[in-house]
Amino acid sequence: MALLPILCFPDPRLHKVAQPVQAVDARIKTLIADMFETMYHAHGIGLAATQIDVHERLIVIDISEERDQPLVLINPEITWASAEMKVNDEGCLSVPGIYDGVERHEAVHVRALDGEGQMRVIEADGLLAVCIQHEMDHLLGKVFVEYLSPLKRNRIKTKMLKAQREERR
Ligand code: NI
Repeated sequence: MALLPILCFPDPRLHKVAQPVQAVDARIKTLIADMFETMYHAHGIGLAATQIDVHERLIVIDISEERDQPLVLINPEITWASAEMKVNDEGCLSVPGIYDGVERHEAVHVRALDGEGQMRVIEADGLLAVCIQHEMDHLLGKVFVEYLSPLKRNRIKTKMLKAQREERR
């Protein structure tokens, strides 16, 4: 397994649209293992392939406290979303240190392949529903700060660029 570098906002590669995974083969299984290792190492609860500069529709999630409930979503499609919306504070491994409120569907049903290539339907609410919607946005090239006001987004952009410059020194 290997730790993969995570792209940081405002890297333009975060805005690429991911293509469907063609086959759940050895390459994808290695990628899944590496993505889990990378996500756990960074103390995240979700990671989309887009964030590691792989533009295929693949997401790993684990919202459990014990970090022992890995969930793989390949080619996910939302089949139902609740009319009820809710604002939750979100963060993102690609926007370290920033947390802000985003409105999402309170519950969603998602159809996706799992890590073995089996079709599954996941009925999610609460944190899992938020996480799935956040990660699926990544696959469309969308980062959560894009839901915030232009003023806030620009402030975050400036802060991130400054932090990235300082890191390089
Ligand atoms: Ni994210």
